[in-house]
Amino acid sequence: MGQLDGKTAVITGAANGIGLAAAELFVAEGARLLLIDLDEAALGDISGHLGPNVSYHVADVSQAESAGRYTRDAIERYGRIDIAILNAGIEGDVGPIGKVSLATFDRVMAVNLRGVWLGLSALMPAMKAGGGSIVITSSIGGLKGTPMLAPYGASKHAVIGLMKSAAVEGAPDRIRVNTVNPGPIDTRMIGAIEMGRNPSDPAAARRAGVTRIPLQRYGQPAEVAAMMLFLASDASSFCTGATYQVDGGSLSS
Ligand SMILES: NC(=O)c1ccc[n+]([C@@H]2O[C@H](COP(=O)([O-])OP(=O)(O)OC[C@H]3O[C@@H](n4cnc5c(N)ncnc54)[C@H](O)[C@@H]3O)[C@@H](O)[C@H]2O)c1
Repeated sequence: MGQLDGKTAVITGAANGIGLAAAELFVAEGARLLLIDLDEAALGDISGHLGPNVSYHVADVSQAESAGRYTRDAIERYGRIDIAILNAGIEGDVGPIGKVSLATFDRVMAVNLRGVWLGLSALMPAMKAGGGSIVITSSIGGLKGTPMLAPYGASKHAVIGLMKSAAVEGAPDRIRVNTVNPGPIDTRMIGAIEMGRNPSDPAAARRAGVTRIPLQRYGQPAEVAAMMLFLASDASSFCTGATYQVDGGSLSS
């Protein structure tokens, strides 16, 4: 028996990295999924590979109409939404305050913060009837400073604020809302950040990053997906309004 048997989930940013790992784990645990991403080709491949319980919807989560559309699509396909993983995110340009452009700030906020706000605004009314679990992907950058990535860090702090308000508002309708806060995870994003920090020697940026992690390695996307599964499933039925680190001990060092 799967931990998500009979449940329906939407996952944003599902075509790569952490969102893809969550899709793989959730379908193996019995969920029916609607995957959302900008990357249509990858979504097509993934849904073909993951089988008949997986559909996809191409959308830019920062666009005002997107969340309403993917929410309606999920309801039309499956009848209801039990779980939402609001995970789509971008890192933006790496650089010090004063050098990073306003365009970078605006785009990072549009995807990472506005995208989550739009998702909550469409999903919470739709989940009211049956309750459920919403998991937002924040970061350890939402709990401490992120030098050279200030807009990214600000966006990841801001979604924790949204999560806390949504958790209190959602509680009477049995909608739980939490954040997952990963440390460095081995995906495209961390590779781009390493390149931005040290363009001539990104491997040196990686070595320096790993030495700051008590477990002395980057995490794997599946290790974040495992926390998302816990928060999505009934195993976490008394958990709402909180941050859940998956960071190899980074925040404690
Ligand atoms: N990798 C890390 O070290 C790390 C650490 C902490 C938090 N996170 C967070 O985890 C989440 C997933 O990151 P990842 O590492 O898997 O990155 P990734 O780049 O591998 O995957 C991100 C996915 O989001 C999609 N996406 C980007 N902008 C979008 C938009 N506007 N609309 C729809 N989809 C969009 C991309 O196409 C991609 O498939 C992000 O929110 C990120 O900030 C990552």
